[in-house]
Amino acid sequence: MVSTPQTGAETSPAAGTGVSAAQAARPERGGEPLLAVEGLGKHFPVTAGLLRRQVAAVKAVDGVSFAVHKGETLGLVGESGCGKTTTGRMIMRLLDPSFGRITFEGTDITGLSQRQMRPLRRDLQMIFQDPYSSLNPRQTVGAIVGAPFRLQKIQTEQGVKKAVQDLLELVGLNPEHYNRYPHEFSGGQRQRIGIARTLALKPKLIIADEPVSALDVSIQAQVINLLEDLQDELDLTYVVIAHDLSVVRHISDRVAVMYLGKIVEIADRNDLYAEPMHPYTNALLSAVPIPDPDKRKGRERIRLSGDVPSPLDPPPACRFHTRCWKAQEICKQVEPPLVELRPGHHTACHFPENAPEGATELVAKAAAERDEAAATGEPVTLGEAKGGVRKV
Ligand SMILES: Nc1ncnc2c1ncn2[C@@H]1O[C@H](COP(=O)(O)OP(=O)(O)OP(=O)(O)O)[C@@H](O)[C@H]1O
Ligand code: SF4
Ligand SMILES: [Mg+2]
Repeated sequence: MVSTPQTGAETSPAAGTGVSAAQAARPERGGEPLLAVEGLGKHFPVTAGLLRRQVAAVKAVDGVSFAVHKGETLGLVGESGCGKTTTGRMIMRLLDPSFGRITFEGTDITGLSQRQMRPLRRDLQMIFQDPYSSLNPRQTVGAIVGAPFRLQKIQTEQGVKKAVQDLLELVGLNPEHYNRYPHEFSGGQRQRIGIARTLALKPKLIIADEPVSALDVSIQAQVINLLEDLQDELDLTYVVIAHDLSVVRHISDRVAVMYLGKIVEIADRNDLYAEPMHPYTNALLSAVPIPDPDKRKGRERIRLSGDVPSPLDPPPACRFHTRCWKAQEICKQVEPPLVELRPGHHTACHFPENAPEGATELVAKAAAERDEAAATGEPVTLGEAKGGVRKV
């Protein structure tokens, strides 16, 4: 029997102070989200033979829904291969979704051609995981950070050089280093160069894909803090991707946990860390290091057995059932829908933890309604993006 882990402790590297002044100052979210993703999926075809016939599909992302409001940070967390980068690349429209919908500022951008996307590229930017390979080693910092201006044919008041130097200063680099090459900088500084390039066109939404995982732990907190400061200064909205819940804790307003192509839990940051409902979230949280020995006492590490199953042939119904210590027969038969069990706290589990009374019945009812709607061909509600119960 595995005990529920203690989850209230501060964690490294983004060891924080709970809610920062900046986060506390952010307004309550409401109205139309900046980004809404509804039932989004990507199945990569696997082909074989001379005719390259499709013989299978990698179900990398399999119907995820969430919304992000202006000024908000959503953390997207899960183990390697669960579909985080694929989700980010679809939102950026670097990958075509297989199904689902992406809405940005109220406009459906799912089907836009690359040409139609060009003006939107200014508003949507991505920070990449690896600050080494994402910067061209043959270009100076000036050329790298100035590239977006040239690509978008944007003139700046005092010239591109001045604009780039201002950006370097903004991310804490010396503007005098304009003519230096990436190899002359440390890992943390290179990630700052990448961030400066991302900010060049004043984007509205930044997808930061594992922005600190390639950096030393001592540098990670600095880069996270920089992202947070920039958010307040420039009114940015973030989706921050990480495989570790400790990295996104400090920066996120809400956190979505992904497992094998699906979102299994999404909630306000404090709610998720204090009272996680999905067993997988609990397992991820139990792996988060706690520096304080008093808080560490009594916490049991949940060691998940086995590897993440292949997205080529994911387990039926609840995809986590092959590794879940609470799994029962229904978990192998009926897919648990993502249900709002506490205000703003959605979980996809038949036997959620820390859940209010009657949660299991509520999940069963939502699953029955979903199946009935599917049988009658009624349109289904893809809820989180709209703030309700998600019936898939
Ligand atoms: N172009 C592709 N063709 C086929 N399969 C792919 C392709 N891109 C990704 N995949 C597969 O899709 C799944 C999800 O990949 P993705 O890179 O989105 O995961 P991730 O959550 O970002 O993982 P990581 O934490 O390792 O970066 C993986 O099984 C991956 O092998
Ligand atoms: S639905 Fe069942 S198998 Fe899936 S997480 Fe919940 S208890 Fe575990
Ligand atoms: Mg990835």
